[in-house]
Amino acid sequence: MSVRRPKVLVTHSKTPEAGVRLLREKCEVIICEELPEPSREEILTKSQGCDGILWATHEALNAEALDRAGPQLKVVSTKSAGIDYVDVAEVKRRGIPLGYTPNVLSDAVADLAIGLMVSAARRFHEGYLKIINNQWESSDPQWMLGRDIKGATVGIVGLGGIGQKIVNRLKGFNVGTVLYTGHREKDEGKQLGASFVTFDELLTRSDFVFAACPLTSETKNMFDKMAFGKMKPTSVFVNVSRGGLVVQDDLIEALKNGTIFSAGLDVMTPEPLDPNHPLTKLPNCVLVPHLGSATCNTRDDMAIVAAQNVLNGIEGKSLIYSAY
Ligand code: DGY
Repeated sequence: MSVRRPKVLVTHSKTPEAGVRLLREKCEVIICEELPEPSREEILTKSQGCDGILWATHEALNAEALDRAGPQLKVVSTKSAGIDYVDVAEVKRRGIPLGYTPNVLSDAVADLAIGLMVSAARRFHEGYLKIINNQWESSDPQWMLGRDIKGATVGIVGLGGIGQKIVNRLKGFNVGTVLYTGHREKDEGKQLGASFVTFDELLTRSDFVFAACPLTSETKNMFDKMAFGKMKPTSVFVNVSRGGLVVQDDLIEALKNGTIFSAGLDVMTPEPLDPNHPLTKLPNCVLVPHLGSATCNTRDDMAIVAAQNVLNGIEGKSLIYSAY
């Protein structure tokens, strides 16, 4: 007698094979095929009757999606650390285990954050524009001076996995003081030699401000005109979290009028950003297209963890990383 294999949907055809292979060992795997992104309709149609879903895009995962999948659904795992596109309360209310993939991407995101810090502090984008516009004036000793990192005060908003990896990397730069803010003081903060302060104190004291916390109703729009106004005119803002943390028009204004020195952004609103968006016109703003976790090994690891979350959920075991 043949036993029915659990049916699992993988919502993006470019999900790394390492994760898909794992699922295929025990499940019948269906994959969304539309490129570059599956439509919501393709995801919801193919999810019908599935036991598990590896939710590999940032498409809203909400009551409608769960209804369309059907009552047999046993588990969903995202393939991301940030789960701002998931209605977690709704998934929880239905008692469906919800996996996600934190930690495995922290090193890659922290590397990118440091890259953005250096490139924004040392004016990489502006320098590139000088070259292509034939404005290279290297004889002027005051030309294109950037901000020093050595000895600087660095503020981390959100000392989670990514924030901690950023602090670790900063040790090699001999920064002066590391501050952090968040819900509470953390042991990891003490171990890293970082001081817990209020958001306001962090803004006023820091030479570099890193946004590394999740996007929630509490953190949405926390970087607004008032926040930028408290920062030093010499300060550098780095965002590797989500664009929704920032009131983008206020950031643009702060970069244009010198309220802050520069910014390095991996995340913005919307994504993808329109090529003619005002952010792209700012010489003191370094932009990269949400590349935080985009390394070969990291994406493989995320797919493996997400797949294992799904398999564990189907087998009634605890997930590797559970979102609630
Ligand atoms: C995450 O995992 O949240 C990263 O931003 C990639 O989506």
